[in-house]
Amino acid sequence: MLKRISALFLVGATALTMAGCGSSDGSGGSGGSGDGKITMGFAQVGAESGWRTANTKSVQESAKEAGVTLKFSDAQQKQENQIKAIRSYIQQKVDVIAFSPVVESGWDTVLKEAKNANIPVILTDRSVDSKDTSLYKTFLGSDFVEEGRKAGKWLVDEYKDGTDTVNVVELQGTTGSAPANDRKAGFQEVVSADPKFKIIASQSGDFTRAKGKEVMEAFLKSNPKIDVLFAHNDDMGLGAIEAIEGAGKVPGKDIKIVTIDAVHDGMQALADGKINYIVECSPLLGTQLMDLAKKVVKGEQVPARVVTEETAFTQEQAKQALPTRKY
Ligand code: AHR
Repeated sequence: MLKRISALFLVGATALTMAGCGSSDGSGGSGGSGDGKITMGFAQVGAESGWRTANTKSVQESAKEAGVTLKFSDAQQKQENQIKAIRSYIQQKVDVIAFSPVVESGWDTVLKEAKNANIPVILTDRSVDSKDTSLYKTFLGSDFVEEGRKAGKWLVDEYKDGTDTVNVVELQGTTGSAPANDRKAGFQEVVSADPKFKIIASQSGDFTRAKGKEVMEAFLKSNPKIDVLFAHNDDMGLGAIEAIEGAGKVPGKDIKIVTIDAVHDGMQALADGKINYIVECSPLLGTQLMDLAKKVVKGEQVPARVVTEETAFTQEQAKQALPTRKY
């Protein structure tokens, strides 16, 4: 009862603290732990990419199916907004908090606040670099280092017969984010084994199409010979395609492109021959997240790490997969 009153009281407070971020509450919201119903506070990164849109849809639909009341906030790619959202969920005494950290560092204080309030936290999609792993119950998401390695292996295979230098430009994801750090590391680990691969420029495009286009335009101006683009996600790759076409070059031929995600628009560009290879990163984490949430709220043991299963696509495979692709 007390919990219900404080939740009602804090709806107003939340609206204030969340000003500037997109925020919406699910209906009902018993929030009580005794009645078997679960309220989850979910602090999403933003709406920066097709991947993110699909991930949000997956979380919202899965919560509905699982009977979980979802309090959802969109941090617009700002860590301070995510921290505010998490604090408001702590104040509202939700049963479980899930979030996809925009960057890896700087979470210990707010995670300790959740722990002190006895609210379990699940990391989803991206991880944090906290040394104290007791601050969260589990991390559900992709192996980003492996994704970078897969992109690197495609490159090595594509140029296995040549000895000429291959000039590579890299569009990194959001600076300081786990996928940007890990994909870069995995890619570098593989391509650095052969000195013919030269990463001649590498800059953040913040995982957005607009920034991908802008940075690629700058790369094209300052580098007369670019052979390959490695973009940390499809959206930046799609923005870069516009820049490449704008410079009178043919994407997929004059400049080969490898990206990560395999969202619908990326797969279409792959099928159309404008991208050469895509490493999959699945955004469909909702069902697994709800299952884990139910377990941690009941106090059951869950694995510390749950890795998403993923594949990769060539142009031919994209043509076959597109008609039944879910996102
Ligand atoms: O954290 C997953 C990454 O975030 C996706 O690859 C990218 O598209 C998104 O913005």
